[in-house]
Amino acid sequence: MCGIVGYIGPQQATPIVLDGLRKLEYRGYDSAGIATINQGKINICRAEGKLLNLEKRLLDQPLIGHPGIGHTRWATHGRPSEINAHPHYAGGFVVVHNGIIENYLDLNTSLREQGHNFSSDTDTEIIAHWIEEHYKECGDFESAVRKALGDVRGAYAVAILSEQEPDKLIVAKQGSPLVVGQGQGEFFVASDIPAMLAHTRQMIFLEDGELVVFTAEAMAITTLAGMPVQKTPKTITWSPVMAEKDGYRHFMLKEIYEQPRAIADTIAGRIREDQAEVFLEDIGLEDVFLKGLERIYIVACGTSWHAALVGKFLLEKHARIPVEVDIASEFRYRDPLVTEKTLTLLISQSGETADTLAALREAHGKAGKVLAICNVVESSIARESDGVIYTHAGPEIGVASTKAFTTQLVALYLFTLYLGDLRGNLDQQNRRTMLDALVSLPGKIEECLKLDDAIEQAAHGLMQVHDFLYLGRGNQYPIALEGALKLKEISYIHAEGYPAGEMKHGPIALIDEQLPVVVIAPHNETFDKVAANMEEVQARGGRVVSVTDQAESGLADKAEIVFVTPKIIDDLMPVLTTIPLQLLSYHIAVLKGTDVDQPRNLAKRVTVE
Ligand code: F6R
Repeated sequence: MCGIVGYIGPQQATPIVLDGLRKLEYRGYDSAGIATINQGKINICRAEGKLLNLEKRLLDQPLIGHPGIGHTRWATHGRPSEINAHPHYAGGFVVVHNGIIENYLDLNTSLREQGHNFSSDTDTEIIAHWIEEHYKECGDFESAVRKALGDVRGAYAVAILSEQEPDKLIVAKQGSPLVVGQGQGEFFVASDIPAMLAHTRQMIFLEDGELVVFTAEAMAITTLAGMPVQKTPKTITWSPVMAEKDGYRHFMLKEIYEQPRAIADTIAGRIREDQAEVFLEDIGLEDVFLKGLERIYIVACGTSWHAALVGKFLLEKHARIPVEVDIASEFRYRDPLVTEKTLTLLISQSGETADTLAALREAHGKAGKVLAICNVVESSIARESDGVIYTHAGPEIGVASTKAFTTQLVALYLFTLYLGDLRGNLDQQNRRTMLDALVSLPGKIEECLKLDDAIEQAAHGLMQVHDFLYLGRGNQYPIALEGALKLKEISYIHAEGYPAGEMKHGPIALIDEQLPVVVIAPHNETFDKVAANMEEVQARGGRVVSVTDQAESGLADKAEIVFVTPKIIDDLMPVLTTIPLQLLSYHIAVLKGTDVDQPRNLAKRVTVE
């Protein structure tokens, strides 16, 4: 969490850093701040709350000069407040930091004993003091930073400026993401690619334990111990426009509407129509390994975990391999039975989620192979995995995940086809049927999006309630969980997802005329049972909102509101039923006036465990 930005070059740093922070605000928005160097002196401007507060303050207190660094915060140590906002300054050094310093209490005690006073409650401030302390001994900015970071335990991406050597910017990474953007006679650094896209598409992805010293003309990448590291920039294909709202009121709405394109891009180039085969360019795993697999663990967090639950249905049905689904924060604490015949399949939009990364290392530690479904190219999870299936969703800025989720479902579907074929469980005829359905998917999502007005209308009658129940069965149960999560996240209405068949084992007690129950009921083998659940809800005075795939389904008299999606094969139905649920959450949140793109307490990338 937290976003950091840095700039060194001939231009004024503040507008560049501020613009970068705007693109990173999804990572945290408890406070923000910028520091620049002007005529050898560090100047800092900080404000509690959203970036807008900092922008207003900068109007009264302009920050001129270069280089510059900036930060948008998601609080870990120390409550959200101006004094805890970054950058943090001590003795001529100023630092922005993303991560957590685990031994900060020890370092803090030792620094206090040496006479240092602290002006914040953060773990970050100790870095500035610690550098100051080392500088007193060595008299060199770079060496002082190396020494200080050598004493620090935990995760960090840091950017540091010094009044002692004002023409330098130093950054380093351990456990938190950091990307360098290479311009013409200038350099940019940021926690994430979109912060730099307006300036360059030439990006260098730093590894843990690397440190970079920049001047405007040159950069030197080394390990923390000082060994030179050679890296060539990669050209990023995302365009700057992809990280803009493009006329939509919110990023979330834009991203919901981008799903037909994002899914088409995720499929593009991966289907060989003549043989009805799937081609996965970065799969990185040998056929002999995949054929001999005995078990798959799918591991993820949050929305990506919901995609994992759908993946279990797909893989067990078509590749005939036992699949276990784990929440990443639980995986490594239960000593999972990873062997050399196990595949750990990680799903992560950002590729930086700390718990998912830890699960990756757990699997590797047990000699297991890891495949990742990931949206961010060259993210930590993508780099450390043995293979990757990239979703081509483009940058997802809205904190609530939408297009990343549906493209993850598509990536799982492609992998299922690939594995089912390889292991002889899916013949050409079946593959062709499945691929034909897949190709029709973007068009069917377009049709789902036409429900938008009706859903907005329905939201007016649902926004006042305090609780929602979502029910789904089979591969729609994860969609019930996802629908409930979306509503909770952005409207702050309590919502629970349940397997429809479980309703009678407890949640039925909640039902009264105040409780809307969203029932996902496509026409599959369990339709009659799910329809019976609706009657049970109605009989107890509950309000039924149904999502189904057939207008003439007899649901009109069982439900107060019915949203009808197009039909598609059952394996892809979860993608279509997701769309109305995303729109429902969105419209309820807008009507309630919440901050849709940056809901309270959340951050887009959870890079702390
Ligand atoms: C919910 C949401 C989160 C993420 C979760 C995992 O809308 O976005 O639940 O899905 O934090 O993030 P990634 O997929 O980046 O690992």
